[in-house]
Amino acid sequence: MDIVCTPEELSLFKTIGDAAAALNVSCYLIGGFVRDKILGRPTKDVDIVCTGDGIELAHAVAATFPHKPHVSFFKTFGTAQFRLHGLDVEFVGARKESYSSDSRKPHVEPGTIEDDQLRRDFTINALAISLNSINYGKLIDPFDGIADLERKIIRTPLDPDTTFSDDPLRMMRAIRFSTQLGFEITPDVFQSICRNKGRLKIVSQERVTDELNKIMAAARPSVGLDLLFRSGLLREFFPQMADLSGVEIVEGKGHKDNFYHTLQVIDNTAAKSDNLWLRWAALLHDIGKPATKKFEDGHGWTFHGHEVVGERMTPRIFKQLKLPQNEKMKYVAKLVALHLRPISLTKEDITDSAMRRLLFDAGEELEDLMILCESDITSKNRMKVKRYLENFELVKQRLKEVEENDKIRNWQPPISGEDIMQLFGLSPSREVGVLKTTIREAILDGLIPNDRDAAYELLLSKAKELNLKPVNQ
Ligand code: CTP
Repeated sequence: MDIVCTPEELSLFKTIGDAAAALNVSCYLIGGFVRDKILGRPTKDVDIVCTGDGIELAHAVAATFPHKPHVSFFKTFGTAQFRLHGLDVEFVGARKESYSSDSRKPHVEPGTIEDDQLRRDFTINALAISLNSINYGKLIDPFDGIADLERKIIRTPLDPDTTFSDDPLRMMRAIRFSTQLGFEITPDVFQSICRNKGRLKIVSQERVTDELNKIMAAARPSVGLDLLFRSGLLREFFPQMADLSGVEIVEGKGHKDNFYHTLQVIDNTAAKSDNLWLRWAALLHDIGKPATKKFEDGHGWTFHGHEVVGERMTPRIFKQLKLPQNEKMKYVAKLVALHLRPISLTKEDITDSAMRRLLFDAGEELEDLMILCESDITSKNRMKVKRYLENFELVKQRLKEVEENDKIRNWQPPISGEDIMQLFGLSPSREVGVLKTTIREAILDGLIPNDRDAAYELLLSKAKELNLKPVNQ
């Protein structure tokens, strides 16, 4: 087994080994750093475990560097960390843990390296490498974690019911690692997740959502989302998404399974963009479907207005999942609201005015909306997909042309509300709104060109209808 470390990392490990020897304790590299180095994945988080006081060791190591990196520590958890050469170096004393069933807080006492490895979540995360001179570089692998890395499987060191009951977040972590690494969760571990799903409720929503976002940021988020759904975990914290699943059949007609359709749209989006929030828009684009589903005689299944319902559900879901309540949320809601618009332009006889309206409504989000909309074209019928995609290309082309002509994106009408108020001596009122809308609509509909003179002329004639006169005439 080969591990490639940078010269800075090697020199840091030597310093840590020497400082530990001076304190008469043993120390080891452990966890994600060892796992990722063996897998050849980039990693910047170095975890050190020592058979003694981790905080003391961290201070001793930091003191050996000329610029003495700042050590932050948490006495209650016995952890300390500092940053060095772009690495996050964290120290903890080896410990033995036992948990009671109604709390996340373990009973902790000092332990050996073996005790510490036993309390870890997965065999692939329990690998340790000695930094002690007596056996420097020796791999300590009591649970055959190396073989699991080779076989690409996720397995717990203890009975999975114990590992998950100790810290239920690990059920999410198992699915997250499976998604990120492309590893299989062993059947007994998966069944244990299904059995223990209800325990997730003792974990804070922030930690659950953190794992969900790591799944969403992976190359194929569908892998993890499907595992979350099949294990029952998804319904525990995100029932609205689980409700997308299933196919109802009436008079021999079924609709798409909106859960699996959504997963495909997320993967399609992920293949085109790393933007986490665009992926969230893909996740939520059809979230309003279960609430709007109807079987209409002669039509079959309809989901009228699901984009509006989805837009309204977005803030509630963001709150429930403790996602940011800021412009990211507004961005997602806007894309959910607009997700049908570009595809509706693939119909024949689409006017330039419809194109202009989309450019105006989407504004800065146009490119992202187009990615979402293109990702939404899924069907088992490959000919159908091909035809839709070709039509979609035409829409893209026409949007480009209209934009080049009219410069309507991120556009402000040539006469503002302020201008109108000044001209007619008005304070903010219904009339100002009417005049503003008249100008905007006339330009978007192509009735007048997008310039100040034409807008001014229209403004005067509309004002006349409303019995308004410019103040200085
Ligand atoms: N760990 C654990 N149970 C948890 C969280 C962490 O046993 N609920 C252990 C694992 O040994 C893990 C190590 O603590 O490898 C470090 O945890 P963390 O930094 O959260 O995860 P990494 O494995 O380093 O992976 P990533 O950085 O991708 O989260």
